[in-house]
Amino acid sequence: MLKVILSGIHGRMGNAIVNIAAERADLQIAAGVDLVDAPRADGIPVFASFAELAVSGDVIIDFSNPSGLAAMLDYAVRTNTPVVLATTGYSPEQETMIAAAAQTVAVFRSANMSIGVNVLSQLAETAARLLGNDFDVEIVEAHHNRKLDAPSGTAKSLAKAVERGLDFTPEYVYERESRRQQRDHKEIGMHAIRGGTIVGEHEIIFAGRDEIITISHSARSRDIFAVGALNAAAFLADKESGMYSMADMLK
Ligand SMILES: NC(=O)c1ccc[n+]([C@@H]2O[C@H](COP(=O)([O-])OP(=O)(O)OC[C@H]3O[C@@H](n4cnc5c(N)ncnc54)[C@H](O)[C@@H]3O)[C@@H](O)[C@H]2O)c1
Repeated sequence: MLKVILSGIHGRMGNAIVNIAAERADLQIAAGVDLVDAPRADGIPVFASFAELAVSGDVIIDFSNPSGLAAMLDYAVRTNTPVVLATTGYSPEQETMIAAAAQTVAVFRSANMSIGVNVLSQLAETAARLLGNDFDVEIVEAHHNRKLDAPSGTAKSLAKAVERGLDFTPEYVYERESRRQQRDHKEIGMHAIRGGTIVGEHEIIFAGRDEIITISHSARSRDIFAVGALNAAAFLADKESGMYSMADMLK
C-alpha cells in the first residue's frame, strides 16, 4: 500500500484528500505536515515541518503554501521521495528551485488536478489555433474569498494553452483602468473574481465580430482535485527523476 505524506493536511484540500484516500485500498495517508501541528481526530500524525517529520512515505502530496516549498524540496531530494506539487502562486525563483529538484527526484506539477480542466486546456489550444487570428481572447476565473493568489494558477496555465495555439506572442493584461487605450488584438485579458465559497470557475472567451465562443469549467467540489492528486501520487511513486504533468498521466 502506497504511503502518502500530505503537506497542508489541515487545509481545505488536505481534508478533502484525507476523505477521498479513506475510500481507496491502494494508498493511505501515513502522516501530515502543517504549520498548524494540531492533532487530528482520525489519528493521522501531524508534524510542524519537514525537518521534524518522523514518518517515511513513498510520495508527498503538497497542497499548502509557497512558503513551505524550500524545506519540502530539501526533504524530497534528501530522501528521494517523489512530490506531487499542487500548491499555486510560486515566484520565478521558486519555479527555478522546482526545476532543479526535478533533476534528482520525480516531481508532478499541475495547477489544476481535475481531468475536466485538463481537457478544457486542450480545447482552448485548439480553439486558439482555429480562431486566434480573428478573435480576441479573455480569461475569467472566480474563486472563494480566502484564495491568496490571483489570477489563479489554472487561469495562467489556460492562458499558456491558448498561447500554444496562437502564431504570435500575446501580452497579458491584468487591469485596464490605468491604460485608457483600445484593446490590442495581441492581448489576453486576465480577470479574477473573489467571493464567498466559489470552488473554482474558469471561462475562456473568444470574442469575434458579431459572434462569441465561450468554453468553461465549473468545479462543484474539491473532491475532483483530491481524486486527481491521489491518482498523480500513484502514477508518480515509481517514476525516475524529472517533471511530470497531467498530460503524462492521461497518456
Ligand atoms: N492544483 C490544484 O488542483 C489545486 C486545487 C485547489 C487548491 N490548490 C492550491 O493548493 C493550495 C492550498 O489550498 P487550500 O484551499 O487547501 O488552502 P488552505 O489555506 O485551506 O490550506 C493550506 C494549509 O497549508 C498549511 N500551511 C501553510 N503554510 C505552510 C507551510 N509553510 N508548511 C506546511 N503547511 C503550511 C496551512 O496551515 C493550511 O492548513 C493553494 O496554493 C491552492 O491554490 C491547488
